[in-house]
Amino acid sequence: MKKQLYIKTYGCQMNIYDSDRMADILAPLGYKTVNQPDAADMVILNTCHIREKATEKVFSDLGRLKPFKDKRARQGAKTIIAVAGCVAQAEGEEIIKRAPYVDMVFGPQTYHRLPEMIAQATRATGGVLDVEFPVEPKFDYLPEASKSPGVSTFLTIQEGCDKFCHFCCVPYTRGAEYSRPVAEIEQEAKELITNGAQEIILLGQNVNAYHGQGVDGSDEWGLGKLMRHLATLKGLERIRYTTSHPRDVDDELIAAHRDVPQVMPYIHLPVQSGSDKILKAMNRKHTVDEYRRIIDKFQTARPDMGFSSDFIVGYPGETEADFNDTLQLVKDIQFAQAYSFKYSPRPGTPGAALEYQVPETVKAERLQRLQEVLRTQQTKFNQKLMGTNQDILLEKPGRHEGQLIGHSIYQQAVYLKAPKNLLGEIIKVKITAAGLNSLAGVYASG
Ligand code: SAH
Ligand code: SF4
Ligand code: F3S
Repeated sequence: MKKQLYIKTYGCQMNIYDSDRMADILAPLGYKTVNQPDAADMVILNTCHIREKATEKVFSDLGRLKPFKDKRARQGAKTIIAVAGCVAQAEGEEIIKRAPYVDMVFGPQTYHRLPEMIAQATRATGGVLDVEFPVEPKFDYLPEASKSPGVSTFLTIQEGCDKFCHFCCVPYTRGAEYSRPVAEIEQEAKELITNGAQEIILLGQNVNAYHGQGVDGSDEWGLGKLMRHLATLKGLERIRYTTSHPRDVDDELIAAHRDVPQVMPYIHLPVQSGSDKILKAMNRKHTVDEYRRIIDKFQTARPDMGFSSDFIVGYPGETEADFNDTLQLVKDIQFAQAYSFKYSPRPGTPGAALEYQVPETVKAERLQRLQEVLRTQQTKFNQKLMGTNQDILLEKPGRHEGQLIGHSIYQQAVYLKAPKNLLGEIIKVKITAAGLNSLAGVYASG
């Protein structure tokens, strides 16, 4: 008998990757993924701890799951509720206390032990808690992907973070930095390509800090060298990576953008603030000027490079002048796209203990001003492509009859009419419309 598995994923792309791996691990036990939690035998919430709102969401979703579990129990069926991911890692004990009907709590580094945990949870009364950072990496225990990847797919190459920015919970939830060996990544990439992937997005909390064991002996390879190697795999048309840290950008990475056509001319490079004082307080380990020089180097190597970033407004001690420095940096660089957030104090991080917290209203007002500038830039960036022919990788059918959705080299979504048999191909599309979040175009010729 097939059992129903419902997984809800919050947070970053690495959680999406992990959720797919959990489904792979559970498939041999008879679990089939479903889109509704109501009748599921097992529910996994794969959680995110990055900002307070993300954490609250988990507890309110747990509250909504309880009635399903109770109802099924009255019918004699067991529902295993599991909390995975970064909230599980950071607040494991708290979850079991606040929601005692949760059967399993496990962090991002132990989900390869899921079959054991399920056996335990079925036998035992009381919750299973597994939030260690085991010595043996979970990647050694993960099965081959069971479902076929999309045209564009994720591949985690690096995990964890040793940077300890003062606002951030990731070093505590994901643990120390770890890079997978090149041979292992190559093997997984080959499987993905064989199963239809044309684009691979290499993932890591600090992806450009990658330093995995190389294939030709004992020396470690950086991200630039890894991408050069992966580009030799037949059938792999596009390589992207995310998220990078300015401190770890090296010449090899920049050279890969210059020399390797498969490496897309786009980088997500969070800067967080345009004020040196705030960057120092955040423990970011780079200055504004260093960030500007990195951008210049990329532009010299690839004049058509597009830039994306993350910003935090209202970090403790941020004055109006500091915030204006951020606005100035944004105006100077002209981002293709960016994410911006109000600072959210995370328990146990140094930033949360600082005295000069910025009032909520000031944070909200600054965020609005910043986002207005960023939205204008993004629209402008998109509109610059109007009338040009762009290479678009066609990834899936759209909602309308005959419509396909693809992505440009800058990762903008592009809507167009084209025959369905072109899915998975890269075609030339003339861009005819551009808005804030997407482009539209016409398929020029075959
Ligand atoms: N490893 C990446 C980003 C990880 S978290 C890096 O080093 O940049 C993704 C983004 O969430 C961060 O870039 C930051 O902008 C935001 N973020 C992290 N902690 C936050 C907090 N406490 N409050 C608000 N935003 C935060
Ligand atoms: Fe968090 Fe900083 Fe590490 Fe990024 S580099 S994950 S922001 S601590
Ligand atoms: Fe969130 Fe954990 Fe990713 S805190 S952003 S799910 S690394």
